[in-house]
Amino acid sequence: MNNQTKGRPPAFRAVITGHGSFAPAKILTNEELSAMVDTSNEWIQTRTGIKVRHVTTEDESTAFLATKAAKKALETANLGPEKVELIIVATITPEMVFPSTASFVQRALKAKNAWVFDLAAACSGFVYGLSVVQQFIESGRLKNALVIGAETLTKITDWTDRSSCILFGDGAGAMVLERREDGQKGILYSTMHSDGKHWDALNCQAYGSRHPVNKELDDPKKIYMQIKGRQVYQQAIRRIVETVNNCLRACDLTIDDIAMLVSHQMNARIIESAAKRLELPDEKVFINIGEYGNTSAASVPIAFDDCVRKGRIKRGDIVLLVAFGAGLTWGANVIEF
Ligand code: ACO
Repeated sequence: MNNQTKGRPPAFRAVITGHGSFAPAKILTNEELSAMVDTSNEWIQTRTGIKVRHVTTEDESTAFLATKAAKKALETANLGPEKVELIIVATITPEMVFPSTASFVQRALKAKNAWVFDLAAACSGFVYGLSVVQQFIESGRLKNALVIGAETLTKITDWTDRSSCILFGDGAGAMVLERREDGQKGILYSTMHSDGKHWDALNCQAYGSRHPVNKELDDPKKIYMQIKGRQVYQQAIRRIVETVNNCLRACDLTIDDIAMLVSHQMNARIIESAAKRLELPDEKVFINIGEYGNTSAASVPIAFDDCVRKGRIKRGDIVLLVAFGAGLTWGANVIEF
């Protein structure tokens, strides 16, 4: 699915007016992990780029993280919560089975005029969310929306599995999108894809309707995330490169026009390999997986917020947000910030 290609530009544009992120205070280092499973700081850093990850305590939930990030985004947008029209929370670690995590966020923010829902597209959830909002704003149906990516992946991590437990962290990131008709461009283009054939490459199988809570699991590990790392690795590089090239073609841009690639942070080596194939120089590729690990749907908005706060992108820059994850799902947004 592609939103907004060449041709007549839309009258309304979805512009990022606010952004924010939040990570729990507790940090888990590679050294600490090395005391839990048979691994080492050296192995983790060389293979993934991860140094530390943030970990929620028992009392810190997904809606708690999401609300913290949302408040920061609303503050930078200077938008009161009662003005928010739509809240989307992208997550695969929701507050509970139902109601949605977004319902809890709405209540905490006192955003009483918003309609709200969760979006489950794993690591691509946030870019999917921006694409949805782009439609509503460009069609004139909404004046603004709050999109949040929030995860507590460490609550579904198998801490005895060294091939997966080293990868994940908790956190949340948010953006406020507002309708503009004054020449600001915001989201220029979005492209989204899925391939359910490879659902088993990344999953957490219990407890859903296939494995209900009242039936004993054939494998107790099904309550945890399970990943086929090597299979995902190759696919991720291929899909990121393909998606970025698709964006460039659709927007009549060259790779030199891109000020920054803000990718889902799944593995520094995956991002670096994709960037190399795209001939993007290091200074145009933002990587912060070292401090956060893989935070799934939260990773793109956390990286974007971090990137802006570090002065690596400025207003007017063309930024590519790209993600790949479970489903499989993948997609990208081209943004004139
Ligand atoms: N420490 C030390 N050794 C390890 C560890 C570890 N933590 N994990 C695996 N190994 C060993 C393996 O047992 C294997 O040993 P062997 O050769 O004796 O059998 C060796 O290291 C190589 O294992 P690989 O799995 O081939 O290692 P690889 O280089 O592929 O790195 C990794 C594994 C980091 C998981 C990589 O494949 C990756 O990043 N994949 C993508 C990550 C991913 O799936 N992200 C998706 C996000 S999930 C979501 O969407 C919610």
